[in-house]
Amino acid sequence: TLAATGELLTAAADQHRAVAAFNAITLEHAEAIAEGAEAAEAPVIIQISENAVKYHGGRLLPLARATAEVAKEAAVPVALHLDHVKSTALLRQAADCGIGSVMYDAAHLPYERNLAETRDAVRWAHENGLWVEAELGQVGGKNGEPPLDAHAPGARTDPGEAREFAAATGVDALAVAIGSSHAMTSRTARLDHDLLARLHAALDVPLVLHGSSGVPDEELTRAVAGGITKVNIGTALNIAMTTAVRTRLAAGAGSDPRPYLAEARQAMAATVTRLIGVLNTPAAAR
Ligand code: G3H
Ligand code: ZN
Repeated sequence: TLAATGELLTAAADQHRAVAAFNAITLEHAEAIAEGAEAAEAPVIIQISENAVKYHGGRLLPLARATAEVAKEAAVPVALHLDHVKSTALLRQAADCGIGSVMYDAAHLPYERNLAETRDAVRWAHENGLWVEAELGQVGGKNGEPPLDAHAPGARTDPGEAREFAAATGVDALAVAIGSSHAMTSRTARLDHDLLARLHAALDVPLVLHGSSGVPDEELTRAVAGGITKVNIGTALNIAMTTAVRTRLAAGAGSDPRPYLAEARQAMAATVTRLIGVLNTPAAAR
């Protein structure tokens, strides 16, 4: 069933548990995420990033609508989220294609501009029925960023600023920088759990961890116990997909893409099921 991100997170936050948000680039990703969540008997968030929209020639609707259908048919609650949106034009397309929540990303801007832009985006989004996540303290490593940002585990969110930012913007959730970094292919990130405790104490809104593919299981478990409620995972699925395709092609495949895409989808679904288990997603939200 198609679910609301906010409701899934509220149910999880109450119990110091978390909901996974996996990035979908292709329809196979979306199918695998729903299938993996069904196997885990837990709710999940499927998110489509602005970069994924760019990959589809700037078109959001074909993948979003197909993903919304996958969500509706799923045996578990599946929420649909638009991730890392910088373009207000894209933000405005989110309202009527099954997407219930967006992450508005102005974290690269200086604090005052991030605050002002986020406040405006939140106002528009709330008027249009969308739930909004924003980011403070840039988690580095996203596509297209200069090499200096390629791994920026040093970025940190200040608890005092975060409290002021959340109150001034009215955001529904906040992505915080506590040591993770986007697009890591090794699971070696170490999180700043003391900072997380201070952020959790300072804020009433759910906290979001980005770049979670690079975070080892035990660090994820600790972060969830410490107040992280939404865990964003992208690269781990791409690694599962590409490894499966490579293995199948190396073994000699014909020209029909279905055998290797089916294996890729299965590998992604298994990754989804395993990671949901690590996050302790609540039965109450199932
Ligand atoms: O917003 C998406 C996530 O932060 C994904 O990061 O690809 O490093 O897991 P990741
Ligand atoms: Zn992210």
